[in-house]
Formats: sequence, structure tokens, C-alpha cells
Amino acid sequence: MAINYRPFPKDFMWGASTSAYQVEGAAEEDGKALSQQDVINRRPGVADASLASDHYHRFKEDVALMKELGMTSYRFSISWSRVFPQGSGEPNPKGVQFYHDLIDELLANGITPIPTLYHYDMPLALVEKYDGWISRESVKDFAHYARFIINEFKDKVKYWTTINEQSIIVQFWTQKCLIPEKYLDDPQIRYQINHHLNLAHATACKLVHELVPGGMVGAAINTAPIYALTSKPEDALGMLNAVDFRTLFYLDVYFKGEYSKASMIYLEEHNMAPVIEEGDLDLFKEGYSDFLAFNYYSSDCARSAGNATERTEQGVNWTGKKGEIESYETEPDFFQIVRNPACDTTDWDWAIDPVGLEFILRDIYARYGKPLMITENGMGAYDALTDDKKVHDSYRIDYLRAHIQAIQRAMHYGVEVLAYNPWSFMDLLSTSNGYKKRYGFVYVDRDEEGGSCERIKKDSYYWYQKVIATNGADL
Ligand code: BG6
Repeated sequence: MAINYRPFPKDFMWGASTSAYQVEGAAEEDGKALSQQDVINRRPGVADASLASDHYHRFKEDVALMKELGMTSYRFSISWSRVFPQGSGEPNPKGVQFYHDLIDELLANGITPIPTLYHYDMPLALVEKYDGWISRESVKDFAHYARFIINEFKDKVKYWTTINEQSIIVQFWTQKCLIPEKYLDDPQIRYQINHHLNLAHATACKLVHELVPGGMVGAAINTAPIYALTSKPEDALGMLNAVDFRTLFYLDVYFKGEYSKASMIYLEEHNMAPVIEEGDLDLFKEGYSDFLAFNYYSSDCARSAGNATERTEQGVNWTGKKGEIESYETEPDFFQIVRNPACDTTDWDWAIDPVGLEFILRDIYARYGKPLMITENGMGAYDALTDDKKVHDSYRIDYLRAHIQAIQRAMHYGVEVLAYNPWSFMDLLSTSNGYKKRYGFVYVDRDEEGGSCERIKKDSYYWYQKVIATNGADL
């Protein structure tokens, strides 16, 4: 018997997502100083954050396109170094005004703003001053920034997200943070960074509860289901360890105020455990989350680490040619990540697994019972602009349709989902492949060198417009 899945609720938010350094450009304009991402992304032959999608100058045109698309929410991030160019001290009035103008424009067009306070872009000044998140000083400066922003926008913003993809910052620490060379051989550092991010997250949650009447706050984690590669009991245990290490280690802090035990014991035994000061765990509990926002792209498999004695890092596909990833994460005695042989992949080797979205929604909701919000989900692809200025991205439509169906199934079985904000509203600077790898509903006419940045609606734009207009009934 075919199941008649319940329709999306009337107040479900249909949106899209971006982040500051990936769209704004104007990296050193109107008082903004550089962030670490403005520097990390400078690679020969690849676009960087100096122009990005020129959203800083075109935000009104972009919001008009959001309105025409029918979006009812927009998830974006605030650039710390636009507001506090030196990371602390006095705010930059023009930077603050930009976010007022953007948020006012969204509200005037009936779009709920969902800002993220931190999306990889630590002010460069703080990296130079004390090595960024490696130092506990960062928590104090983040608190100063977060208090200012939350207070400034408390009458305009209800939903706040704190840190983008904390687990990815840990996993890919040298890509998401500028790490001085002297730390590179010390695997403990990334868990110290993580501890400081947890303190920053909890501080921001407390501030929202203190300053924003009716405000709701949560992290924006990246999460992926991890399946056991085989039915061997050892592989099932490897999967359990991988889920603990890659997911619960973060979510337990957000929702229970404590580190998951198995991962902490593993870190202690391998000399990687963070230094935790008195009162830190109390702060975790006080800075509780009201919901979890998460970014979902793909799934993984895990197996027993077998006899492996060396830690190996997760590889990245930098080329967009399938099959480039050569190494997967191994934590000796704990687990080994492997490619999911059951799923097709994108050209960048990301497993395409819509069922995994239903899986992770149901799994996280069953564990923590808090509302969920999707802040990213999408398909990175090479898009071609035709001579008559069209982008026929049927592959993206197929991807998004299957993921929306997965959300509907999860909601049918009782999961509370507040919003769907796929990545990305418009083409933007990819973290790995500049403008070769595109995600947007709106094409941005530029290449690695630059370009006009004209906005062109893709086929997926018109498709998503219909999805929103019918509240998900016509997929
Ligand atoms: C998420 C990040 O991990 O994935 C985004 O929050 C990022 O910043 C997105 O752009 C897609 O990754 P990539 O490498 O394809 O740009």
C-alpha cells in the first residue's frame, strides 16, 4: 500500500542559504578587515573572497530574487571582521549598517532572517594576535562580538545559529583555520579548538536567551549518517565508534552539556583530550540549544580499524574528477571511514543519499527530541550557461526533489522540522573549487578570474518557485 505522506505544515519555512565570505566580496571595503578565509582562499587560478558574488553591492537585487522565488527564510552569516575589523574593540558603523540594511530588506519582503554568527571566518587580526581559536582568548572576543550583534538585532531576528560546522572545523582544521606551522604535528590542538568553539557556542546561546525575548538558538552542525560497511559485528562496532566521534561528541555538548564518554576516553588515551577548566562544563549546560540546525550533503560508511596503527586524515577532492579521494579517516583501535559503495556520487566524490537525510533527521530527533532545521543541502556541479542564457540543471532538481521527499517522510513519522534552507541561494565561492563547483538556484556570471556577476535564474530556480508556491505538494 502506498503511504500518503502528510503535507508540509503551513508555517514550514522554505528558504536558501549562503555565507558571508562566500558571497559578499568587498573583503576590504567600508572598514572591513581581512578574515582568515579571505587569506586561506587565495590560490593561483582559483577565485577568492575579494569579489565573490558581489552580494555586498547587490543585496537588494538578490533579496528581490529571493522574494520572487517565494522564499520565506534566508540563512546567511555575519562577518565578524566586517563588524569588528580587529576582532574586538569598537564596531565598524558601516559594517553594522550593512547587516541592518540586509535584514530590513528581508523583513520588508516577508523573509525570516536566520543569521549564523560564525562561518569559518575568524578575523585575521586575532589569528595574528594569538593564533585564533587555538587560544582561549578567542572565546572572550567572540563573546564581545556575539553580545554586540545579538543585542543590535534582537528586535529583528528570532532564529539564531551560532557556529557553522564545528565538526568540519575539527576534521579539516587546516582548511578552516589558519594554523601556524608549529602546531601542525600536534593532533591535540584541534580538540582544543573544538573546546573553545563549544565555549563560544554556549556563550552565544546564553546571550540569545538573555537578550532576545522569544529568541531561539542552536548550532549549525554538518552531519552525515554513518552506516556499518558490512554486517560483521566488528564493523557495527566501528560504526558505533565513528558515530560517537563524528556526531555525538558535538551534539551531546549542545544538548546534554557534556562530552560523549567513549570519544573522550579515546582522546585521553591518545593524548588528544582538550584542557578543560573549572566551570566550562557548567557553561555548556547553561548555554543549552533550543533546536539543531544542520547541513546535510552525503553519508559515509565505517568499519573496524582492524590492525591499523596510524591515524589517517579524510582526503578532499580538489579537482571535480570522480574517484580522486585517496584517503579516509582512520582512528586506530576505534574505526575507519570508507566510501559508501551503495551510493552514486557527485563529481566531487560526495555520496548522493537522500534516504540518509530521512535517517539522520529521525536519528537525531529520537536522541534529543528538539526541533531541527536544515541550513544546507545541495548539489555541487559544473553548470553550463547556454548562449540564450539558461542553465538546465535537471540533475540539481532531481537531487533536491529526492531530499525534500526525505524530509516529508521524516516529518510524517513525527520529526519536527522548522525549515529547509538548501545550499545555495546563488552561486558562490566554493570552499574547494572556486566558481567551478556551483550550487545556486541563481547563476552568477563569473569565472575564476572575475566577470560581470550578472544574476541568471537556473531551471532549478523555476522548479523551486513552484515547490514553494505549493508548499511542497508539487515536486
Ligand atoms: C558546507 C559549508 O560544508 O559545505 C559551506 O558550510 C560550503 O561553506 C558547502 O560551501 C559546500 O562545500 P564546497 O566545498 O563544495 O564549497
